Amino acid sequence: MTLKIDLPAPPGAFPTRRPRRLRGREPLRRMIRETTLDVADFVYPAFVCHGRGIRAEIPSMPGVCHLSIDALAEEAAAVAGDGIPAMLLFGLPASKDDVGSEAFDDDGIVQQAIRAIKTAAPGLIVIADLCLCEYTSHGHCGVIRNGGVDNDETLPVLARTALSQVRAGADVVAPSDMMDGRVGAIRQALDAHGHAETPIMAYSAKYASAFYGPFREAADSAPQFGDRRGYQMDPANAREAMEEIALDLAEGADIVMVKPALLYLDVIRQARDRFTQPIAAYNVSGEYSMIKAAAANGWLNERQAALEALTAIKRAGADIIISYFARDVARWLREG
Ligand code: PBG
Repeated sequence: MTLKIDLPAPPGAFPTRRPRRLRGREPLRRMIRETTLDVADFVYPAFVCHGRGIRAEIPSMPGVCHLSIDALAEEAAAVAGDGIPAMLLFGLPASKDDVGSEAFDDDGIVQQAIRAIKTAAPGLIVIADLCLCEYTSHGHCGVIRNGGVDNDETLPVLARTALSQVRAGADVVAPSDMMDGRVGAIRQALDAHGHAETPIMAYSAKYASAFYGPFREAADSAPQFGDRRGYQMDPANAREAMEEIALDLAEGADIVMVKPALLYLDVIRQARDRFTQPIAAYNVSGEYSMIKAAAANGWLNERQAALEALTAIKRAGADIIISYFARDVARWLREG
C-alpha cells in the first residue's frame, strides 16, 4: 500500500493562485483594471487653412480634414462638447518663403484661427504647434544657412512666432522643431513680454520617424531636400531622449513630449520613471493611418485596435495623449 501524502501547493502557485478567477466577468475585470482612458486625457489635433466653408478630408488620414476657420470654429465647439480639454493647431499658410514668415504674422492663419476658437469655444485650451516647416519653402523646421538648418539663427524666429501665437490667444505653445535651446529662447521671450504664465509643451524626444508621412501630406511640410535627421532624434536612442527631456525641463518646459508614441512606449516609461513633470505622447499620423487602413480592409476592428493602442500609451506612463482618434474615443466612451 502506498502512502498518499497531500503536499500543500507551494505558496503563490497553481492551484492556489488562479489569475483567471478575476477575469471571468466584466464587472470584476472593471474592478481590477489598472488603466482607463478618459476624454480628459486627450488633445485633438487640427489643420487649419485659408478660405471659407472648407472641410476637405486628407486622403491618407480618413476622418481628418483641412478646415477653414469657420469650419474649425464649429469643430472646436464640438470638441469642447465632447469634453476634450484641448486642441493642437497646425496651419497651412497662403504662401511660403525661406524664413516661414506667415508663422509669425499676427494675421497668419494660425493666429486668426486661435482668435476664432477663443470666440467659438472659450473654455477650450488652444495649443499652438510651434514650427516653421509648414511655412518655409524648403520645408525644414528652421532657417537654412550654408545648405543646413542653422540652430541659433532659428531661435529668434521661433521666439517671435511663440509671442505672436500667445498674443493671438494661444493658451500653450508647443515647439516641435527640435532646435537646441529653443525652449529657453521661447521662455525668455514670453517672460519679457508679460506672458510668464503661458506654459510650454515641448516636443522633447521627437524622433526622425517614417510615421509622420501622412501628416506631411496633410500639412504640406515634407522637406524639399535632405531629411530631418540632422535635428530630430535617431529612433535607435533612448538614453539620449532622457537627456533631451532633462534639457527642456531645465530650460523651462512645463510639459514634455515623446513622439511618436506607439513605437516608443519604452521611452515614455523611462521618462515617467525618471521625471515628475507631465508627459505627453503623440499618437502620430502614421500610427493613426495604419489602424484606419487595416480597419478599412476589414483586417482590424477599428474601435478595439484604437482603444488598445491608446490604453497602451497611457499604461506606459503618458498623462496626455495627442491623437486623431480623440473625438472617436469621446464617442466610444459615451457609447460604453
Ligand atoms: C512639425 C510636426 C510634424 C508632426 C508634428 N509637428 C512633422 C515633422 O516633424 O515632420 C508630425 C505629426 C504627425 O505625424 O501626426 N515639425
